[in-house]
Parts: sequence; C-alpha cells; structure tokens
Amino acid sequence: MERIKVEDVSYSYISKYQKIDALRQVSCSFDEGKLYAVIGESGSGKSTLLSLLAGLDLPSEGTIYIDGEDLASMDRDAYRRDKASVVYQSFHLFPLLTALENVMYPLELKGVPGREARRRAMDCIAQAGLPEKILRQYPKMMSGGEQQRVAIARALAAEGDILLADEPTGNLDTENEEIIAGLLLECAHEKGYTVVLVTHSLELARKADVIYRMKDGRMMRYDR
Ligand SMILES: Nc1ncnc2c1ncn2[C@@H]1O[C@H](COP(=O)(O)OP(=O)(O)O)[C@@H](O)[C@H]1O
Ligand SMILES: [Mg+2]
Repeated sequence: MERIKVEDVSYSYISKYQKIDALRQVSCSFDEGKLYAVIGESGSGKSTLLSLLAGLDLPSEGTIYIDGEDLASMDRDAYRRDKASVVYQSFHLFPLLTALENVMYPLELKGVPGREARRRAMDCIAQAGLPEKILRQYPKMMSGGEQQRVAIARALAAEGDILLADEPTGNLDTENEEIIAGLLLECAHEKGYTVVLVTHSLELARKADVIYRMKDGRMMRYDR
C-alpha cells in the first residue's frame, strides 16, 4: 500500500471575479523510504499540491489517501502534528525563539516534558549537521543555510515521517543546496520517511528517486 495516494485530485482557487484551476485531475503516489522531486514552471501547481498533501486544505475533487485513509475524513490537526511536517523556502522560524527553542516547539506541542524535549531537540540539531553554538542563537543571527537546517531539525523533532519541502533551497547557494538535499535524502533512505521536494532546479531533482513534473495543473510523465 502506498503511504500517500493522490487520486484524480483537482483544486480551484475561487474568488469573486475568477476561478483558477490550480490542479486538474492529478494522480500520483508517494512511498516510504523514497525522495520524490516535483518540478515544473512557476504557477504549475506545485505548492498547491504540497499544501493539500500537508492537509492544509482539501481537494475540490478527488481524494488523497494517507496510509489508505481518506485525508478528508481524518483529524487533520493531528495529521499535521504527528505525521506531516512542512519546510518552506523562507524557513518560517519563530524570530523570537532561539534555535533550540524553535526545534523544541513541536515537542512541547506534543506535551513532551522539558528535559526530554531539550535532549531530543539537541539530537535533531546535531543530525542536521549544525554546531552546538547555534543552540542559543536567534534566527536573524544565522545564515540562510543554517536557518534552513534549523527548520529541518524542527521537522525532524516533530517525528512525522512525511516530510514535505517547498523550494527549501530557493534562497540558498549551491553548497547549502547540496547539504539540504543530502539531509532530505538521508531522511528518506535512512529513516524511511516519505519525502517530497518541490523544486524548480532540475539539478536538485536529479538527486531524487522519483521525479514528477507538473504543467498547467496536470501531472506529466518525466523521463530521465
Ligand atoms: N491563494 C491563491 N489564490 C488564487 N490563486 C492562487 C493562489 N495560490 C496560487 N494560485 C494560483 O494557482 C496556480 C498554481 O499556483 P502554485 O500552486 O503556487 O504553483 P507553483 O508552486 O508551481 O508556482 C497559479 O495559477 C497561481 O497563480
Ligand atoms: Mg510554489
């Protein structure tokens, strides 16, 4: 059984003046232990697909199954807290919290006691390849690459095994791009996570196990 199965999913943004069909009958699936890249031009529907996978919104039509269960009938707050983590291009760290506090945050949400949360957070920060001195730093004191690694450490701390990344290296240089891609690959291959990487970089996408390409809201075949 696939971890995530997307079946004939359409999604439209509807405003008073227009209706934009962002996804048109998209079908695809995502298995555990693999890194998936989703590529496509700007506006092709990548972020919309990712936000549906994250349970932030529901398809207008079609169904998304998580471990065989319809996401629309699941407790989506619990899904986002326990299973799915999202990493964004602009990191989305809490500016008034240190690196350590940022990473402890999802653990506190789950009610993990302070000392244990601290221990696990430090573990995740180390896994993300960050030095200990980062623990007490605030986001604005860090480089972009460090901030993104803290964001990934926070996603690891959440312990969801579905990791969704939307252009996570969009603001980073090649060296940091490599580091982030390496971390995502590790999550898939060593931890067995289901990892989805949205990127417009074909070079980055080539590191993935599977490449999906979107065009005008449709999922196309991508031949390497
Ligand atoms: N909040 C929104 N309201 C209206 N239209 C949107 C919104 N977000 C995205 N769109 C439109 O939906 C389409 C797909 O967008 P998006 O999923 O962000 O694409 P991508 O991430 O591939 O650039 C685009 O035409 C975009 O303009
Ligand atoms: Mg996007």
